[in-house]
Amino acid sequence: MTNLSHPAPQFSTGDAEKLGEQLFNVIGTATPLDGERDRNYRLKTGTDAGWILKVVNSTEPRIESEFQTAILSHLASNSPELAVPFLKKSREGDFLASAVAASGETHAVRLVSWLQGTPLAEVERTFELMRSLGQSFGDVDHALQGFMHAGAVRDLDWDLRHAARSRSRLHFVKDIGKRAILQRFIDTFEKTVQPKLARLRTQVIHNDGNDWNILVDSGNHQKVSGIIDFGDAVHTILIAEVAITCAYSILDMEDPIGAAAALTAGFHEKYPLHPEEVDVLFNLIAMRLVTSVTLSASRYGQAQDNPYLAISEAPAWRLLERMDRMNPRLATAILRKACGFDAIEGAGAVRRWVVENSKSFADIVRPSAATMNKAIAPFGDASHVMTIASAEQRPAQATQWWNEFSTAHKVPLGIGPWGEERTIYTDAAFESRFIEGQRRIIHVGVDLIMPAGTPLYTPVAGVVQSVEVEREPLGYGGLIMLKHSPEGCPPFLTLWGHMAHEALARLKPGDHLEAGALVGYMGADAENGGWIPHVHFQMSTDTGLKASEFIGVGERAYLDVWADLFPDASTLAGIPPETYSQDGRTKAEIVAKRKELLLPNLSISYSDPIKFVRGDGVWLIDNFGRAYLDCFNNVCHLGHSHPDVVQALSRQAARLNTNTRYLHDNIVEYAERLTATLPEGLAVASFGCSGSEVNSLMLRMARNHTGRNDAIVLDWAYHGTTQELIDLSPYKYKRKAGKGRADHVFEAAVPDAYRAAQDWPFEELGKRFAESVADQIEIMRKQGRSPAFFLAESIPSVAGQLFFPQNYLKEVYAMVRAEGGLCLADEVQVGFGRVGSHWWAFETQGVVPDAVSMGKPIGNGHPMSAVVTTREIADSFNNGMEYFNTFAGSPVSCAVGLSVLDVIERDNLKLNALTMGNYLLDGFRKLQQRYDAIGDVRGLGLFLGIELVTDRKTKTPATALAKKVADGARERGVLIGTEGPYDNVLKMRPSMIFSQKNADFLLEVLDESFKAALQ
Ligand SMILES: Cc1ncc(COP(=O)(O)O)c(C=O)c1O
Repeated sequence: MTNLSHPAPQFSTGDAEKLGEQLFNVIGTATPLDGERDRNYRLKTGTDAGWILKVVNSTEPRIESEFQTAILSHLASNSPELAVPFLKKSREGDFLASAVAASGETHAVRLVSWLQGTPLAEVERTFELMRSLGQSFGDVDHALQGFMHAGAVRDLDWDLRHAARSRSRLHFVKDIGKRAILQRFIDTFEKTVQPKLARLRTQVIHNDGNDWNILVDSGNHQKVSGIIDFGDAVHTILIAEVAITCAYSILDMEDPIGAAAALTAGFHEKYPLHPEEVDVLFNLIAMRLVTSVTLSASRYGQAQDNPYLAISEAPAWRLLERMDRMNPRLATAILRKACGFDAIEGAGAVRRWVVENSKSFADIVRPSAATMNKAIAPFGDASHVMTIASAEQRPAQATQWWNEFSTAHKVPLGIGPWGEERTIYTDAAFESRFIEGQRRIIHVGVDLIMPAGTPLYTPVAGVVQSVEVEREPLGYGGLIMLKHSPEGCPPFLTLWGHMAHEALARLKPGDHLEAGALVGYMGADAENGGWIPHVHFQMSTDTGLKASEFIGVGERAYLDVWADLFPDASTLAGIPPETYSQDGRTKAEIVAKRKELLLPNLSISYSDPIKFVRGDGVWLIDNFGRAYLDCFNNVCHLGHSHPDVVQALSRQAARLNTNTRYLHDNIVEYAERLTATLPEGLAVASFGCSGSEVNSLMLRMARNHTGRNDAIVLDWAYHGTTQELIDLSPYKYKRKAGKGRADHVFEAAVPDAYRAAQDWPFEELGKRFAESVADQIEIMRKQGRSPAFFLAESIPSVAGQLFFPQNYLKEVYAMVRAEGGLCLADEVQVGFGRVGSHWWAFETQGVVPDAVSMGKPIGNGHPMSAVVTTREIADSFNNGMEYFNTFAGSPVSCAVGLSVLDVIERDNLKLNALTMGNYLLDGFRKLQQRYDAIGDVRGLGLFLGIELVTDRKTKTPATALAKKVADGARERGVLIGTEGPYDNVLKMRPSMIFSQKNADFLLEVLDESFKAALQ
């Protein structure tokens, strides 16, 4: 190897000009250039860009000179487009000529093309230029991939694989503080990088991307135009190229890691790096500087007159000092992210796992954050009184403001969002260690503001990592860190700041906490660092961080990095995304538009209407991210937006949607599956788009079959929205704007077992109520009329969730059939397994109707309906008039219907309805023992009612109370309805996926709502 103490070759300018002409046939004017070991001259010819004549130090082994020429000729022949010097052959036809100096020494000589451009050292460096620099080296190294030469195997101190040799030069550095910095980098190198060296990719690299070896386009300083001087090229780890080039080019930059990231990304674009290579980059950048300053220190005495050696020393020290203050894990995350990798291995997987498993998390506060009314706390507004009071360490004032706001607006939970800009952090600790002069202002945790003492529970199982107290003012106070290792997810950490100190005595590292276990309590200001009581809840995908290494606020420039390392913990905390942003019109605007544009008869639930923006299983989420437990809507039978149904619908819609006049598999498959759920005899299906449509069709069939028109219906029944059905719906014709009962309609009493005559024996209730139908038949007879049909819901719903007493339908069906009438069941509300024990509610009465209509739950929200009847009735209906219904029975509707049946069967939802229904009935009965106002509790499966009375003896309806309880439930995050002639029955029809946790929440809310309403 070249002897550095051996003087550079002694050739004058005139010698150089002669050599140019004699050896290479180039006539030019020579000017000397810098060089540590060799003698270099620029040769200007006046006809081309010119040349550099390089007279190589005589101690440089021949093989090394040959190696350099081999590199350049390899690059020239393989990638002529690269901006690297071009070698000129000598008159003899060789790339390497030789010359004898006056001293008698023989030197190798070569002539390389002069590249145009300004040295990087002389231009202002930008991220764009850094990227271009990375790209240039990426191109060169890509072109060198697979290139090998015997001279490439050199032992150089500058080879980063040997960077630990710097340790032997440490004693040359006299300043103890500086030496300690070097020592730390060397320690890290030995501990974490050296063991990985053997697994990193190796090849020939340039190995000296310092800013004098890089030329920038003189007309465009954002673009590198050339790379020169391959004198240090060596076969080593590829990533060393990036590290070395970074080490020089980021010196004295405001954001050196950002600049290194831009350079690395540029390299990666042209020559993809491996994540393991980027993982060692931060230390290797530092180690290049360590090598440089230690070599410089060691040579200081020997080569004091050589300013070239010390040229980059001062900036190198400045950068080393800055890098020493940086957290290498965070810096590495920045470098990784710039290349498009996860900021840390597994970050993406953790983020995905959180989204995919959000439904399984235990609530971190109770009731869950999702169901609570929430508001964004004003920490992001630097001029807000609460923020100012917080920053000035007057937590009592901040808390007072919040408490008043929270009471006035009924907002029990304040949220400090992830990603919020906070200028309140003014302490020196919030100065960026990456970007000079900047502060860390972006909040990367989620704050939940609730009263001191609010218990907090872990959303997933975890192991306590640390429990400590940060005592600095405006620090974290009580601080707990948990590690979570859920199945199918890389491990991650959660940090709980501003906690009460009691946790110190209760928890210790290693303790295992089950999901839902207590973590601690929100601390009062005396123990939470002097803040308004809240928890700073933060995730980290880097499990190597200590609690004290978490940054709670980060630099805006690296938000994408923090999003990987410290993902938004909102989902883990159960805070819906709608909490943070609203779109569309405000509620008031929609109400106004509805008034202007829509039929005024449309009613709106609640005096303060709700704007829902998303449905998710049993939950409906409003435009402010509050989730309501939907216990009312029986259309979303399998839960809102059931993924199977959505998929079946969209898949078929994307493929084909036509009408029943063309053949399609779906309609027959669906008819087959649907009729299979019904008793024998009910075998022929027809489809519609709404409950009203199929009820209407069912009436046409019945009237056609019997040749009659007259109907028997139950009081307070509702069967649909057309005039014909309103005529059969006492619930409509007897109420406001109703025209009263039509002549062809006969109205029997609705069996209300709760209000049955006291002297009727229980086992006779069915028979006794059926007498009302007999009475109507008798009235008809007297008028010379006979019923075409008896039409009833299998469980009257708007009449107040009434359940027929045993044998009722048996008795009624027998009477009607004896008169030649048909028995029609309206299962629009109650079908599809809702009663739990059976598919159809009429089955609980042991009867088989002549036709049954179905709607609401049939398509989980897709507008479809069906009527199924007997072969005989269907055949008689085939009287020559076609039944065509444009949308009904379409491939899409039938695909949806099939998926609903599939899910009910696959997920055993009938059984779930039965189990949860019984669980709820049990809970309701317990409430009944506590609240006298609960007169009756009734239900089958998930079709449930609670009847409220002012007096259990007189059974006087408690209408106002029912409204109060329903409104109270809404306030507490649960949707139920009121029903019945007196509107005193609480009506509940939750979806079939209702869980015990949901049931417990409903019961708890009902309990609180009763308590509040009765006060
Ligand atoms: C029992 C019953 N039948 C029929 C209908 C009418 O159904 P649709 O609104 O789909 O026309 C309803 C609607 O509420 C209903 O409850």
